[in-house]
Amino acid sequence: MVSKIITTIIAITTTLSFFLTSSPPKPYYHSLYTSPSLSNNQSISHHLYTLTRRPHVAGTAANAEAASYVLSTLTANNIKSHVAEYAVSLTYPDSRSLKLIRPLPNTPIIFSLQQEVYKDDPYADVADQVVPTFHAYAKPGTVTGQVAYVNYGRVEDYTTIKKTGINITGCIVLARYGEIFRGDIVNNAYDAVGTVYNGAGDPTTPGWPSSTEGCERLSEDEVERAGDVPLIPSLPISGADGEEILRWIGGEVAEDGWQGDVDAPVYRVGPGPAVIELSYKANQVISTIQNVIGIIEGAEEPDRFVILGNHRDAWTFGAVDPNSGTAALLEVGSTEWVEENREIIASKVVAYLNVDIAVAGAGFLVEDPDNSSQTVYDSWVKTTKYPEIGRLGDAHSDYAAFLLHNGIPATDISFGFGYPVYHSMYDDFVWMSNYGDPMFQRHLAAASIWGLLALQLADEEILPFNYSSYVYELQKNAEDLETDISNKSINLIPLFKSIGKMKNAAARINDEIMEIKAKKGWAFLQKNQPWRTREINDRLMMAERALTDRDGLSGRPWYKHMIYAPSKHNRYASKCFPGIDDAIENAKKLNTKDSWRWVQHEVWRVSRAITQASLVLHGELT
Ligand SMILES: *[C@@H]1O[C@H](CO)[C@@H](O)[C@H](O)[C@H]1NC(C)=O
Ligand SMILES: *[C@@H]1O[C@H](CO)[C@@H](O)[C@H](O)[C@H]1NC(C)=O
Ligand SMILES: *[C@@H]1O[C@H](CO)[C@@H](O)[C@H](O)[C@H]1NC(C)=O
Ligand SMILES: *[C@@H]1O[C@H](CO)[C@@H](O)[C@H](O)[C@H]1NC(C)=O
Ligand SMILES: *[C@@H]1O[C@H](CO)[C@@H](O)[C@H](O)[C@H]1NC(C)=O
Repeated sequence: MVSKIITTIIAITTTLSFFLTSSPPKPYYHSLYTSPSLSNNQSISHHLYTLTRRPHVAGTAANAEAASYVLSTLTANNIKSHVAEYAVSLTYPDSRSLKLIRPLPNTPIIFSLQQEVYKDDPYADVADQVVPTFHAYAKPGTVTGQVAYVNYGRVEDYTTIKKTGINITGCIVLARYGEIFRGDIVNNAYDAVGTVYNGAGDPTTPGWPSSTEGCERLSEDEVERAGDVPLIPSLPISGADGEEILRWIGGEVAEDGWQGDVDAPVYRVGPGPAVIELSYKANQVISTIQNVIGIIEGAEEPDRFVILGNHRDAWTFGAVDPNSGTAALLEVGSTEWVEENREIIASKVVAYLNVDIAVAGAGFLVEDPDNSSQTVYDSWVKTTKYPEIGRLGDAHSDYAAFLLHNGIPATDISFGFGYPVYHSMYDDFVWMSNYGDPMFQRHLAAASIWGLLALQLADEEILPFNYSSYVYELQKNAEDLETDISNKSINLIPLFKSIGKMKNAAARINDEIMEIKAKKGWAFLQKNQPWRTREINDRLMMAERALTDRDGLSGRPWYKHMIYAPSKHNRYASKCFPGIDDAIENAKKLNTKDSWRWVQHEVWRVSRAITQASLVLHGELT
């Protein structure tokens, strides 16, 4: 099939045009890299340099300038392109202060909260355009309290503290970043101490687009009641400032796993005696943001779309992370676009291919940028035994709106994982060309894999989707679930039955495809049963859609997918059967008959979704 390839270069910007200064912009990837004339490390490096000349956080003129660059580059390559604008609610820091009040006779420390410009930083002249460190949508306010150390701020960390009998109600907590999504650190703190944005897209327009022509908007109160915005103030601080605070926290010595490296002072839990005074004021504005959309039209089935997407906005220069996407702010653009086009996307989109941080991998018969005598696939197999593919239930990046809100099969690829300059002002072209990808060969490989994957999806007669491997995942997770609640009277037979139906449907469609390939061939089919290819592709394309439910997860209705969603306590972690998982957590806490009955209800809901999907895959009415 030959479908349209859409490149969505998702981002957020005011409509002003900008003057380029002599400093750097951000990387992002789109299908233009698959065009042979552009597929070289030189042009990729140039795109990255141009896009990361200046900091371009969402909603700023600098990010609009990056949008213009993307639009003109696509247009110059004869790709039909346009801009889709949204008016979204964004927040920026207005004033921030953080004071550490130490026991007398020590004087208070007032932290500068500045990222330092290092000697000879080529971007020193635009450093003042970097938005001061803050949490998007953080609650404004001034708070004072004794400080307690809570490790990573996970639910289990608070359980540990509670077990030792330490009371941190009403305290200000210091958490280190690294294990869970920053918004969940704030949510967990809110729950633990008496209670950062955790929804998707613009919080004032949950589930519908933030139209520039005007649209329904929730009031501040309604947004707070919806529960997706943080309810306590918070600030991100540097490791150095965090360690200074830790020096003044007394009380019990924290357990080994909570300690820092060898040079670090001994970390204690507190609370106090140090007291923290934190103040944060925000500017909340409605800004125009822009998604740049480019379309390469297919010849045979131009009404089917393969979408390649990436966010363009960045916290700073964004040389690595133009879309780290994890922060809700960053996802606003593509989410609004998906919300606006929900029904058309549901009926026509074959797959969504996300790249946020380009430089990890899957096509994969592309030369390994780090070893020219083997392919990316070879090294992938060598390092993980077999090509290990994670699940996309987390809401790390822009794929969440496609997969979790809409049931569009999606992928996300990148080279490497974890890097020291994450979301800091040192995430710039200098870092990338010195450390991240000095020859830009990894960028080139990522672009090639991305492009080849898109071409394969657009060109192959039959979509390369294999639901038998999906069934394998479902079965494995259902068995884990069985172990977890083995001593509860929850009936999992409906779930196993539905998975059995899906297994048969998957085997049947795979057989149909094999038989056509073996016996008649595509040419024969084209001539005698021209509708048949489309019929099989429709089943493959729509089965994932059937795994969604209009009402969404209980208490988290934006998430419509019944099989995958982020963990309730960590947006960066993927959960299988999230509705059942949420219900079990609640039932373990309450341990009432009704709460366990609710678990059974959630089991039925998932089973019904899987049954629907197996019918779609099967392709016949009951
Ligand atoms: C913890 O401290 C808060 C406020 O200081 C107090 O209201 C609460 O009763 C304490 N909880 C326990 C279990 O001692
Ligand atoms: C590069 O790939 C070749 C062929 O697979 C392999 O023999 C060699 O060990 C690899 N080199 C490194 C440094 O991994
Ligand atoms: C492109 O790669 C070649 C090596 O294949 C290297 O010599 C060149 O410096 C690279 N160009 C850029 C802009 O990194
Ligand atoms: C589909 O997946 C199943 C299970 O992982 C595997 O046995 C089968 O070979 C796959 N089929 C194709 C056509 O890749
Ligand atoms: C049920 O099993 C869990 C572990 O799966 C265990 O922690 C719990 O104590 C058990 N409850 C009863 C009542 O046996």
